[in-house]
Amino acid sequence: MNKQLKDQLYTQAKEWVLEAGDHIRKHIDQPLKIDTKSDANDLVTEMDEQTEQYFAERINEHYPSHQLLGEEGFGDEVTALDGTIWIVDPIDGTMNFVHQKRNFAISVGIYHDGVGEIGLIYDVMADVLYTAKRGEGAFKNDRRLPDLQPSKDLATSILAVNTFWALKNKRVSEEGIHRLVQKVRGTRSFGSAALEFAFVAEGILDGYLTMSLMPWDVAAGIVIVNEVGGITTKADGEPVDMLKKNSILTCHPSIHEEIINEYVSLK
Ligand code: IPD
Ligand code: CA
Ligand code: CA
Ligand code: CA
Repeated sequence: MNKQLKDQLYTQAKEWVLEAGDHIRKHIDQPLKIDTKSDANDLVTEMDEQTEQYFAERINEHYPSHQLLGEEGFGDEVTALDGTIWIVDPIDGTMNFVHQKRNFAISVGIYHDGVGEIGLIYDVMADVLYTAKRGEGAFKNDRRLPDLQPSKDLATSILAVNTFWALKNKRVSEEGIHRLVQKVRGTRSFGSAALEFAFVAEGILDGYLTMSLMPWDVAAGIVIVNEVGGITTKADGEPVDMLKKNSILTCHPSIHEEIINEYVSLK
């Protein structure tokens, strides 16, 4: 993707993300219509749908040749990564949105021929926008994020995980994960994959490990984490497939191999 187009798309995407976030913020105290999807805890609200629709309409109008891969079904049936694809999670952390009214994000990744070119993660209630363009560094509210420290060891790391580590899990052997959560300095769980990526990029988390995320959960985050020298793979070290559900490890490069080789063993 040439620089001029990348800059133009970035400016446009940023404007839309901020506008959509502003709308959510203004309506945060209004009663919500909440539905469930795959199970009773898999929530979706009108606001998730309206926000995705907002992006779908604008992308269609301004970039008719681009595709949209979104969570709530207003995008395209994307089967290949050719061309330019907007990968959008209109609200990442819907449970937080519903119950906590904070700690959720709008996540927009723009990929061209499979390469992540632009990432935006907007922490809506905090009004903090994390952004990156490939090769141009990552930013938090327009202030450049420093590269991750040159080295990091697991014993002083803070690792984000969700409850999978505590439960019987069909994807990963519990024994290794139990050793891992004891080995690290501490664990955290924020309930928004996009924010957890942003926090890894910011260096306030050293890693985020989880067993099942969709492309829209990770698309923007991967671009942003890359720009500070972080690394993202599946939990077995294989490359992330942007058309499928993946296990995910995004982290400081110094702890990546150790986590995979010594702690995570996928069944
Ligand atoms: C969810 C959040 C959550 C993660 C789930 C995701 P959603 O996204 O990122 O933190 O643990 O796996 O599905 O549904 O709130 O957009
Ligand atoms: Ca969801
Ligand atoms: Ca999500
Ligand atoms: Ca979502």
